[in-house]
Amino acid sequence: MVHLCGVKKSFRQGPHGLLPVLRNINFHAPGGKTTVLIGPSGAGKSTMLRCVNLLEIPDEGVLRVAGKEIRFEKNENHPPLGKSHFVRQQEILALRRHTGMVFQNFQLFPHKTVLENIMEGPVLVKKENPNEARDFALALLEKVEMSDKKDSYPSTLSGGQQQRAAIARALGMRPDVLLFDEPTSALDPELEREVLKVIRTLVQENNTMIIVTHNLIFAREVADFIAFLDGGEVVAYGTPAEIFSKIIPKRVGDFITAMSPEDYRI
Ligand SMILES: Nc1ncnc2c1ncn2[C@@H]1O[C@H](COP(=O)(O)OP(=O)(O)OP(=O)(O)O)[C@@H](O)[C@H]1O
Ligand SMILES: [Mg+2]
Repeated sequence: MVHLCGVKKSFRQGPHGLLPVLRNINFHAPGGKTTVLIGPSGAGKSTMLRCVNLLEIPDEGVLRVAGKEIRFEKNENHPPLGKSHFVRQQEILALRRHTGMVFQNFQLFPHKTVLENIMEGPVLVKKENPNEARDFALALLEKVEMSDKKDSYPSTLSGGQQQRAAIARALGMRPDVLLFDEPTSALDPELEREVLKVIRTLVQENNTMIIVTHNLIFAREVADFIAFLDGGEVVAYGTPAEIFSKIIPKRVGDFITAMSPEDYRI
């Protein structure tokens, strides 16, 4: 469903420098499965996830999402960066339409109610019939247990409620793949639980999902596959049983040991 092959991405650093963030990403998230990304801060997890829906444009490599493929090639005509690209905006929008993203800080439209937040994309971007979009939005609100807040504005909601509304908004676009970037790390444990419950339901329904999280207990519970990123590369990939076993690079084991409560130490 999602493939990244040889994906590289650098950011400008100062007037002349480049900071290589994704050095060579090879990654696969199969359809109907949950793939969890873990790894130390600064490893490139968010950048990689943002490359999947082209919020960041890779410098090089191949991206395939739901059968659509875009190749990124170094453009030697633009030294010293040498890596600028021309990707047609239409191509970006077409690919992005297959993805739904949930951010750490929710990013709801503040001037719209919860229901309007969910209906906006389907009606304005996908040109869905407003009545049908409304019915679907109401069904999604029921699913995330937010029906009673449909007419509320985001600023009046708890973080957990805002994030559940944001998940409903992502689902409203009927994406092929759902991307979550640390969806609960801004929340207190109690609010985190209610969001994890919703994500668990989506896992059980066999949605295609890529989740970045520091919550290794949750990762182990929901992941079909775990990818460990370090220094801009996927350095380990496998089932939770494999990743949490001892047959992994020492670097991964050290990370898991440092991050995990007693029960989950390897
Ligand atoms: N837009 C940007 N411009 C410049 N540097 C950036 C940009 N986005 C990310 N970086 C840098 O890229 C590196 C990787 O960042 P990224 O956010 O992908 O890491 P991460 O694995 O998600 O970390 P965390 O666990 O802390 O969220 C960091 O050094 C970061 O400072
Ligand atoms: Mg991040």
